[in-house]
Amino acid sequence: MDDVFETAATDARAVFLRDVLKGLSEARKTLPCQYFYDAAGSDLFEQITTLPEYYPTRTEIAILNAHAGEIAAALGEHVLLVEYGAGASTKTRILLEALPSPTGYVPIDVSEEFLLHTAQTLRTDYPDLPVHPVVGDFMIRFGLPSESKGRPVGFFPGSTIGNLSDEDILRFMSSARDLLGDGSQFVIGVDLRKDADMLVPAYDDAAGVTARFNLNLLTRINRELGADFDLSAFAHRAIWNDTASRIEMHLVSQRAQTVQIGGRTIPFEPGESIHTENSRKFSIDSLTPLFEQTGWNLNKQWLDERHYFAVLLLSAD
Ligand SMILES: C[S@@+](CC[C@H](N)C(=O)[O-])C[C@H]1O[C@@H](n2cnc3c(N)ncnc32)[C@H](O)[C@@H]1O
Repeated sequence: MDDVFETAATDARAVFLRDVLKGLSEARKTLPCQYFYDAAGSDLFEQITTLPEYYPTRTEIAILNAHAGEIAAALGEHVLLVEYGAGASTKTRILLEALPSPTGYVPIDVSEEFLLHTAQTLRTDYPDLPVHPVVGDFMIRFGLPSESKGRPVGFFPGSTIGNLSDEDILRFMSSARDLLGDGSQFVIGVDLRKDADMLVPAYDDAAGVTARFNLNLLTRINRELGADFDLSAFAHRAIWNDTASRIEMHLVSQRAQTVQIGGRTIPFEPGESIHTENSRKFSIDSLTPLFEQTGWNLNKQWLDERHYFAVLLLSAD
């Protein structure tokens, strides 16, 4: 498609294989969480957002709905909304409808098919809004599409920031600062620390959708890299790590087994896990030094009544 702006031209399959083999060669096996999001993974994530146990999406949407006018007034006119990890762009619609005169929308996502479908739906629903999707990894520096116009404002909802380590947050915020430019603003959704009794079910729901989302990573590795993971021999686990203030998702080997990937044999002990994702739960105070180190000031914050979730407005002054 000629209106799609591709980031660095790399052999995506070779990079995927390299990342998978690197993660599975570590003493504690890991897989990078951005690979959850092929088309099936993005669909499963959308299902997760509607689960009764998954409080973050409905809480963030309620905050955005309650304060859309105030957020839009703070962002001002001629906004080019640049969304990192856009997914279905559901929350974006709240901002787009509140903003006085948005000049365009640039959704960035690794999940190509899902992103292009979302972009097309938005073009139909907002015929006057130029939509310029960018397929790529937001951790890799990229430029805005040349045809995009307006004052760039960043949007990073869904507490996707919670999937990043401190080091990655610094790298991400610094490259966003360079991309969006002096005087720009950034709206970020952040999931806050709360009771483990509420957190664990949000990542281990009764209907098993999060388990399917986690296991889909192995399905994808089998399909795209020709691996032979037996899905019935791995189980989904969600664990609250209080010291690190994060939910960890794991895939736990149910027996001794080996898996073939790219000519390599990967052994698994019974009970050995692949750590697939962290979802950090923050205090706002723990994030502000990371923002300040990368040239961002916290200007405003909006929370729900129970203080489950926060929407932050930063500016690059
Ligand atoms: C937790 S979901 C949030 C989706 C949506 N923004 C929301 O608030 O519901 C994370 C989204 O970011 C995308 N994503 C994850 N890691 C990414 C990366 N490194 N680069 C670009 N997109 C990424 C995923 O494909 C997915 O759509």
